[in-house]
Amino acid sequence: MNITIVYDSSTGTTAKAAEAMGKKMEEHGHQCRVQSVVQADPADVSEADLICIGTWVKGLFIILQHPTQGSMQFIERLGILEGKKAVVFCTYKLAAGSTLPKMAKALEGIGAQVVGQFKYRGPEPNSEFASFAASLT
Ligand SMILES: Cc1cc2nc3c(=O)[nH]c(=O)nc-3n(C[C@H](O)[C@H](O)[C@H](O)COP(=O)(O)O)c2cc1C
Repeated sequence: MNITIVYDSSTGTTAKAAEAMGKKMEEHGHQCRVQSVVQADPADVSEADLICIGTWVKGLFIILQHPTQGSMQFIERLGILEGKKAVVFCTYKLAAGSTLPKMAKALEGIGAQVVGQFKYRGPEPNSEFASFAASLT
């Protein structure tokens, strides 16, 4: 499977998580490209079989959490993704709130099928993601 991971990271945690997710997918035989929202070209990204979009959680730590403007603006630039599989992920410190549902809703709004939502308290993808990567065919 041809996978693209796009992330928005301020201090590197989400970038590290994205790289680790890419490595894990490659271990399972998939081709994976990892890019920041600044580097990634939306037209190229929409060609992938699976699109993963990640953000760090922004808010007041226990309330008003949301994805970054950069990650949401990238989703807006993707255009129509009818039937395309997508994954959303985030890194956070205390509580992710509705960060992932907000991204999932935006992706579903442009026709994507959200097949995974993962949150990590730091740069390491969790065992739930490892199982997901192993299940991808
Ligand atoms: C301005 C600001 C707001 C934040 N708000 C939250 C929050 O509401 N909830 C939370 O769990 N973490 C919050 N965090 C922590 C970051 O989401 C977390 O450290 C994340 O892993 C940083 O990712 P990055 O290194 O890729 O930028 C906030 C961090 C900053 C700088």
